[in-house]
Amino acid sequence: MLYSEKVMDHFRNPRNLGKMEHPDGVGEVGNAKCGDIMKIYLKITDGVIEDVKFNTFGCGSAIASSSMATEMIKGKPIEEALTLTNRAVAEALDGLPPQKLHCSVLAEEAVKAAIDDYYQKQESQEKELADKPIEKV
Ligand code: FES
Repeated sequence: MLYSEKVMDHFRNPRNLGKMEHPDGVGEVGNAKCGDIMKIYLKITDGVIEDVKFNTFGCGSAIASSSMATEMIKGKPIEEALTLTNRAVAEALDGLPPQKLHCSVLAEEAVKAAIDDYYQKQESQEKELADKPIEKV
């Protein structure tokens, strides 16, 4: 199986690797077949992904895909990050072997799950505020 230089580079030197303290959104997805797991943390300010980190317990292609995906969404508005596809991640890596294309799907799903989590947290915060009794003095 032949990997591109970019895949090898992102696998050997993953960008944005690690955990994030107090993230605004976290997405964790797994591939049921291979058992690999990917977790993405987001820091969001004014609708823009200010910072992103990832932890991936998986194959080299999954690690390279997460690293590339984090680079592709960092500094971007949420709406733009939501349009990220696994094909775009694989293309940015100069391709993945066909049998490894599914590994990039994890990256797309993890990003979307993290944004989903962010929206859910926002909603519950808004609800909490709305439900708070207003104290009149
Ligand atoms: S083999 Fe499981 S994500 Fe690559």
